[in-house]
Amino acid sequence: MTLDPAVLVKEDQDHLIHPLHHPSDHLEPMIYVRGRGAVLTDIQGREYIDGLAGLWNVNVGHGREELAQAAATQMSELAYYSGYSGSSNVPAIQLASKLISLAYSNLRAVFFTSGGAESNESAFKTARFYWKAQGKPDKVKIIARTLSYHGVTLQAMSATGMPPYWKMFEPRVPNFLHIPTCYPYRQEGARPGETAGQTAARLLEEAILREGADTVAAFIAEPIHGGGGVLYPTDDYFPLVRQVCDRHDVLFIADEVITGFCRTGRWFALEHWHVQPDILSFAKGVSSGYLPLGGIMVSKAIKETMDSVKPDDRWMHAYTYSGHPTCCAVGLKNVEIMERERLWERAATLGTRLHEGLKAALGDHPHVGDIRGGKGLLAAVELVEDRGSKASFAADKKVGNRVIQEMTKRGIITRNRLDHIFFSPPLVITEAQVDRLVSATRDAVKAVTGK
Ligand SMILES: Cc1ncc(COP(=O)(O)O)c(C=O)c1O
Repeated sequence: MTLDPAVLVKEDQDHLIHPLHHPSDHLEPMIYVRGRGAVLTDIQGREYIDGLAGLWNVNVGHGREELAQAAATQMSELAYYSGYSGSSNVPAIQLASKLISLAYSNLRAVFFTSGGAESNESAFKTARFYWKAQGKPDKVKIIARTLSYHGVTLQAMSATGMPPYWKMFEPRVPNFLHIPTCYPYRQEGARPGETAGQTAARLLEEAILREGADTVAAFIAEPIHGGGGVLYPTDDYFPLVRQVCDRHDVLFIADEVITGFCRTGRWFALEHWHVQPDILSFAKGVSSGYLPLGGIMVSKAIKETMDSVKPDDRWMHAYTYSGHPTCCAVGLKNVEIMERERLWERAATLGTRLHEGLKAALGDHPHVGDIRGGKGLLAAVELVEDRGSKASFAADKKVGNRVIQEMTKRGIITRNRLDHIFFSPPLVITEAQVDRLVSATRDAVKAVTGK
């Protein structure tokens, strides 16, 4: 049966609700039918370089037969059984052990989820659980940062630091608050002589003191922001954050949903700064998006607390699909591929090429304010109206959206937030494809700004 694209588009518009749904963004949807490596093909047969690895997640690239095989084999054997206390399955056990061997040395145990928001929900509840078990039931607040993205279930949305995600769903969950993030190009609250990292870490400490440390359960941060703008911190920030959290008995949750699994040139991104979190949220790259999978890893202290409370005080948190055998089998094979192909090294090398390429192509451009990158295949270009004053373009000019459209015409698919253009391709992208990402971006910026 041949598929008629026009009929499919009409049925989509009538019956399918999309993430961030609005029909104005969906007049001419792309329908993708195939992926191989870093290349996608749409229903018209046009090919594109996938500049965002799906949604920052297809780390091992598209079209891996091995992963399809791992899923088929596990599904034929035992597709699903509950992992509730008292039962378990082989892939979940093996993947949990593998992840603990790869992640920060203080982490001891894994709880699996089906995605990033569920992971952060689990992290917030676990932080509260931990303090209640320590006899500190009032430590419930979660401090998050502006421009953070932690997902959009109600708690995760309340942690996400971008008001457009809240607007039509308020009120937010109480006891979530935001402080300015570490954004070296536009640091809020800076004092003379401070680095951006010192400012942002000081603002965290001030918030803890203002709220009362005995009311704060945890601080959550993405090591490098994703959807908020691919914002890189200064190198001093996370070591200072760790110190602040330790000083005030506040748990540190690292949201590594994007930065985990080799994306930044390391297995996990806080390794860049030799910092360890108390709870690590992951998703996306753990299965490279082949099946839904995520989770949290928790420290030895938290695991011991979970294991030592009385049954009535148990960690009463669960998902039907926690430790899903088929998803875990795919995750295990995915991690095996990353190890075999040493994809953290590839991400580091090609990430440097991408960052250097963007700087060479756009570093002097009058409408390019900031180029962020250099830690693996995670980069962004921030466009501005005026480089000197850092003034942004008026929102109604939709400069970022128009650059994305021009890139699409040139065979590159990626996403933006306002005038921040994002790059997070599959880690198997080739050198030539990285160079095409760069040249298409330069040409697209010229087409839109005339310069
Ligand atoms: C850093 C981060 N955390 C959490 C999430 C939420 O993940 P999900 O969409 O799987 O719920 C995302 C998704 O993009 C993310 O980038």
